[in-house]
Amino acid sequence: MNGDLPACGVRICGTGSYVPERRMTNEDFAKILDTSDEWIVQRTGIHERRICDPARESTFDMARTALERALECAEMKGSDLDLIIVGTVTPEMTCPSVAARVGAAVGAVPAAAFDVSAACCGFVYGINIAQGLIRAGMFRTIGVIGAENMSSIVDYTDRSVSILFGDAAGACILKRDPDPRIGCLYQRLGADGTGWHSLYLPRKQRDVPACDVDNPIRLGNIRMNGKEVFRFAVTKFREVLEEAMHHTNLTAESVGQVICHQSNLRIIEAARERLGLPREKVFINIDKYGNTSAGSVGLCLDELWRAGKIERERPFVMVAFGGGLTWASSVWRV
Ligand code: COA
Repeated sequence: MNGDLPACGVRICGTGSYVPERRMTNEDFAKILDTSDEWIVQRTGIHERRICDPARESTFDMARTALERALECAEMKGSDLDLIIVGTVTPEMTCPSVAARVGAAVGAVPAAAFDVSAACCGFVYGINIAQGLIRAGMFRTIGVIGAENMSSIVDYTDRSVSILFGDAAGACILKRDPDPRIGCLYQRLGADGTGWHSLYLPRKQRDVPACDVDNPIRLGNIRMNGKEVFRFAVTKFREVLEEAMHHTNLTAESVGQVICHQSNLRIIEAARERLGLPREKVFINIDKYGNTSAGSVGLCLDELWRAGKIERERPFVMVAFGGGLTWASSVWRV
């Protein structure tokens, strides 16, 4: 906190999300790959996912619509924003940022804008950065979006990775609030780049590490060592969640909703059981949308927010892990 600024809080004013209409079910995969509904459900908990229509939808379109919905929910206009942050690893272009184009589309010029590349942690990284900037007095009102067009970087000839991912965007509006008790109570951002090749997207052959030269997945598509990521995720998810609850004195009884990045139902269930969290406190929508990377936590937050399940005074937790390898947590009181 800057010394000469009065302490402030951060309010979540509204949320929004977008998922494409096109559904891709496990049966659809079974028609093109050697896989089955039973295998996918048992190993991942996924039944179907949404896929962009490339003729009219991409990361920018999903991000813009999610933000417009969040603005509507907050009863605000684009011109009320002074910063837009988009978490994504599937920008249409690396320049300009998705955030700058979204800002122009919603009338937020001259709000600052940038993208965050933290894979599945993109939205939680964005929220944590945004709330810190508000508390430091640098910005008043920030739109945070997680948006991912995973279908544009998935090799649909490979069954080991393609079945996991879907497309979506989630957004929220954060605003400076005079009540310092409101807002983020604890946050954590972390990364361990030594594990980068467990989950990566090589564009050129020279980006491929020696350990992965025989990978049949085509360049320009996401590659993953499922077993390594699973091991990392099961441990990290639990650690990050435990740490966030410990630092905020939250227990399985006192915590509100726990929003986990929807990576794999088995990974989420392992953390839930370890922490003794009741099923109704750990939101699940991976069955309908698959793993939507940076879109995932924002999409969950929007579903819970609109269902009135984010309770006042009862802190809720967001937690994610992803490529990088990265991890992030954020505990909020609204
Ligand atoms: N359908 C049917 N069989 C499949 C398959 C599919 N879609 N994908 C892989 N298989 C096969 C493998 O070829 C292997 O066959 P084999 O025993 O004859 O060699 C067998 O199933 C087991 O494969 P394995 O990779 O060991 O499966 P798994 O139990 O580790 O499950 C994942 C695979 C991807 C579901 C799991 O590793 C996982 O969820 N990892 C974490 C992924 C993740 O969260 N990524 C995102 C991070 S943000």
